[in-house]
Amino acid sequence: MERTYLMVKPDGVQRNLIGEIVSRFEKKGFQLVGAKLMQVSKDQAETHYAEHKERPFFGELVDFITSSPVFAMVWEGENVIATARQMMGATNPKDSAPGTIRGEYAATVGKNIIHGSDSPASAEREIGIFFNQNELVEYSKLIKEWVY
Ligand code: PPS
Repeated sequence: MERTYLMVKPDGVQRNLIGEIVSRFEKKGFQLVGAKLMQVSKDQAETHYAEHKERPFFGELVDFITSSPVFAMVWEGENVIATARQMMGATNPKDSAPGTIRGEYAATVGKNIIHGSDSPASAEREIGIFFNQNELVEYSKLIKEWVY
């Protein structure tokens, strides 16, 4: 089963959207295998967003993600990486479809509520930045039989 790293960003936590976001992925049929409320360090933020370090908003992005706790999660399921990105909506909320998380709750690209890995390689890398292996569980849910 594929895994992805999803993170409710500081704006989503401050706006009490953790429950709503977790609920959407649960209802879709994905399985939560790791989760924690945490303060991202500057090192973690710079590593996580390393591919954007030449972009003009890099400093702003690091300051934002370290400004207040995030809710870090690992989700598992068939095609969870691409499906989660669809459920999140386009990066810029002005382009995100109604019904998506950003389409419903975000108004500006700087504060767009949620991050999700964009490929299997990113997912593996990002899970490794925020979680130790012993923080991730393996278990069977009967619901799997009803989703797949
Ligand atoms: S994507 O999804 O990687 O293709 O999006 P991208 O446009 O490359 O943006 C990468 C991350 O940078 C954030 N971003 C910004 N933050 C602050 N200000 C501006 N102008 C801005 N533009 C993009 C964007 O939300 C992406 O963050 P993550 O956490 O990866 O979603």
